[in-house]
Amino acid sequence: GGDGVQLSLLTPSGRLTVGNYLGALRPMREATGRCFFGISDLHAMTTTHRPDLLRARIAEFSRLMIAVGLDPDRQVIFRQSAVPEHTGLHYLLECVARVGELGRMIQYKEKGRGRPDTRMSLLSYPVLMAADILLYQAEKIPVGDDQTQHVELARDLAQRFNRDYPGSDGDVFTVPEVINPKIAARLKDLQDPAVKMSKSSTNPAGVIYLLDSPETIRRKIKRAVTDSEPGISYRPDERPGLANLLDLGAATSGLTVQELINSHTSFGTLKNTVADAVIAIIEPIRTRYAEIDPAEVRMIFARGAEQARAAAAPTLAAARDAIGL
Ligand code: ADP
Ligand code: NA
Repeated sequence: GGDGVQLSLLTPSGRLTVGNYLGALRPMREATGRCFFGISDLHAMTTTHRPDLLRARIAEFSRLMIAVGLDPDRQVIFRQSAVPEHTGLHYLLECVARVGELGRMIQYKEKGRGRPDTRMSLLSYPVLMAADILLYQAEKIPVGDDQTQHVELARDLAQRFNRDYPGSDGDVFTVPEVINPKIAARLKDLQDPAVKMSKSSTNPAGVIYLLDSPETIRRKIKRAVTDSEPGISYRPDERPGLANLLDLGAATSGLTVQELINSHTSFGTLKNTVADAVIAIIEPIRTRYAEIDPAEVRMIFARGAEQARAAAAPTLAAARDAIGL
């Protein structure tokens, strides 16, 4: 049974941002129930990558997950590549997935289709993601719009597998449901508020990283793009840069957008308030990050991998049995 199982994996495709914290890590820390929280390192190899950089990012992600307060006594914290059941189930699901349906995935069409150096793993990435989800019999998958299509594929593969290969003990997989999580804010890039703030952005001036120093954070917020209209108002369509600062301030300060509007008349003072609030949230994380012993982090992830394997192994065994292995 998958009652209350929650699964959330973060891909080390860049350095963790304040957006990742507010949209993913903070809710993960507050989550209750049976939680599997991990680093989807295999998903970071679907496009050209550098091994040394990947290794460094995985190390930083691991340590930051502990620094933000994820709790290994309540939550299973692990690395995808340390749990071979993920790739084991991936292959079985490749045997029910169709090349045509993968070729229709929007992210593949945008990032890979028709290019000579496109990796096979970019095409099959949604199958691995389906394995991530189905292994733990997760029922509800909180994802943003850009991942909805992939979770729908996971549903399709689960239903097809269950239909074509019934287990001796009933359905092998729980069919997951997509839920759209209520998140504090969908932050935009500080230099280009038309796009979201992302760890894979190529312009660091637009992104606040969790390991940025207070001076860097203040400078980035001071230089954030606004507009030439005087006064403070919240109109995301006409004033996206300003609305983004208000969202960032509201998500970090404990004040509402309206309270921030009421108490500020200039961009300068608003930016100061927002910078103070962001620094107050991030500085303790950075401090804990510096204090944590990397050996302890490795131990937490080793124990988490064992727990994840114990949870995943019965699903893989049932799938192998049903498919005839
Ligand atoms: P990124 O674009 O930084 O690579 P992902 O798309 O991998 O992030 O998403 C990882 C998690 O972080 C998701 O839970 C997503 O909702 C959250 N997240 C990413 N960017 C933002 C943002 N700009 N604002 C709020 N949450 C975000
Ligand atoms: Na991304």
